[in-house]
Amino acid sequence: EIRFFELNTGAKIPSLGLGTAQVDPSLVGEAVATAIKVGYRHIDCAQLYGNEKEIHLPVRMKKGSIGIQPENLIQPDIPCTWKAMEALYVSGKARAIGVSNFSSKKLGHLLDVARVPPAVNQVECHPSWQQPGLHAFCKSKGVHLSGYSPLGSPGSSWVKSDVLKNPILGMVAEKVGKTPAQVALRWGLQTGHSVLPKSTDEGRIKDNFDIFNWSIPEVSLAKLSEIEQERLMTGDSFFVHETCGPYRTVEELWDGEI
Ligand code: A2P
Repeated sequence: EIRFFELNTGAKIPSLGLGTAQVDPSLVGEAVATAIKVGYRHIDCAQLYGNEKEIHLPVRMKKGSIGIQPENLIQPDIPCTWKAMEALYVSGKARAIGVSNFSSKKLGHLLDVARVPPAVNQVECHPSWQQPGLHAFCKSKGVHLSGYSPLGSPGSSWVKSDVLKNPILGMVAEKVGKTPAQVALRWGLQTGHSVLPKSTDEGRIKDNFDIFNWSIPEVSLAKLSEIEQERLMTGDSFFVHETCGPYRTVEELWDGEI
């Protein structure tokens, strides 16, 4: 059963983790406690989410600035940031180090200069944004892909998403007798990446853990690969601006993987 994936450092990453981005700070503690009780052993957190007492995207903030907006962002010095991450790894403070929201091109450039290669690239990944090209590139380089927004972030105010309402996903769910959310998560595991669903609801935290000891048959996996593809997290309003910040266009931010 796919409980863990092995990283290029030899460390193991649990295949299912709890996402915490955009979770209300007053609810996050309880949700994490519930998840640990249910059996989760992987929690995704970051300073950017504003609910944690590391970074995250291929952007750098101006010293002293507050808030993710293009005027506060400058060109990141990724080799320099990576050196600091490598120092954390070498000192033993981190068992593995990774990146997030890296395109194949950015990951390739980092691999060219890294002494310790990244263990993980955490990116948007769900049945409606499967990223097969990036997935294959990561795999060929021994970089584990971890999927955020594995349910397509239903109910989020900043993306319009109906990933869980996709008719093909619904059909497969009916066939295997699971919910669309469980099929979306299990699809991730069978595709070879870890998944980080967010929930603060005890029932859904449990449901999202029920993705082991059953599987999606090959024919249904093939059906899921026919789902129409669309990136939800384009980052346009946060990271892209015609005149300021490091990226002029969405194509530049994602190096055409859009
Ligand atoms: P809630 O906290 O009320 O459960 P993603 O992880 O893709 O970003 O999606 C997170 C969103 O999906 C949250 O709004 C969460 O709401 C909702 N959610 C989590 N688990 C499920 C599920 N099993 N079925 C439907 N919606 C879910």
